[in-house]
Amino acid sequence: MAVIIDGKKVAKEILQNLADETVFMSPAPGLAVIIVGDDPASKIYVSSKKKKASELGFNSIVVELPESVSQSELLAKIEELNDDEKINAILVQMPLPKHLDKNTIIEKINPIKDVDCFHPYNVGKIATGDKPYVYPCTPKGIIRLLEYYDIAVEGKHAVVIGRSNIVGRPMAQMLLNMNATVTICHSRTKNLADITRTADILICAAGKANLVTSDMVKDGVVVVDVGMNRNSSGKLCGDVDFSAVEKKASYITPVPGGVGPMTICSLMVNTVDLHKIQKNDKYS
Ligand code: GUN
Repeated sequence: MAVIIDGKKVAKEILQNLADETVFMSPAPGLAVIIVGDDPASKIYVSSKKKKASELGFNSIVVELPESVSQSELLAKIEELNDDEKINAILVQMPLPKHLDKNTIIEKINPIKDVDCFHPYNVGKIATGDKPYVYPCTPKGIIRLLEYYDIAVEGKHAVVIGRSNIVGRPMAQMLLNMNATVTICHSRTKNLADITRTADILICAAGKANLVTSDMVKDGVVVVDVGMNRNSSGKLCGDVDFSAVEKKASYITPVPGGVGPMTICSLMVNTVDLHKIQKNDKYS
């Protein structure tokens, strides 16, 4: 039976320590979240980000823009936030409506306020083995979980399923930078099970319920499930057949209560880190 990795507990501890630190910060760390349109899932994510930031006493603002907003209006808003000294961190909630050019919008964010680590400057830093201003929230949360449970990465075969810019790609590069041997799998990968069976650490970020079954993993594998899916009865589930895979794994994250709480926790830590970096920048 696997150790169930308790992301809720770890996130709570980190946030408690963060709260102890930020209570003395003046001005308070500032987080701006931009949301375009009415996507219900995005609205839920954004309101939980705002709630957590407010609980920590941050200067937390949500900019709600209509689905019809033009590219230039959105770019102007980002510019305003780039110039706003009370805002240390800017997050543009994805996905954006189709008429907006995601890459141009991300590139407008000042890299020193890029709390998601989406800007090519920061992405390039990770890709070259250098340090970005802050690391992307979900992969950073996963690394913290591995560290918390003393799970070594160096020399291990880490298999990442999924190649998104939010999780899969940066996750793979961060594991590589920690000296893992890394394989990235995706929807066009042939013989997925042959590859996953060789994984010491398996990161599942495909967004497909029950993609990973127990015959696809070896005994003792560490499984991190980033999936957020609904099963046929509407219940939240990950990408992994948890009850079967748990019997073979050494460690496994549940859904919910695994990676999810760590993502929002990393967002708060990143906001504080950017606040510190900007303060140092100004006075150095
Ligand atoms: N949409 C889903 N997850 C995320 C995230 O981590 N950051 C942003 N900006 N949008 C998202």
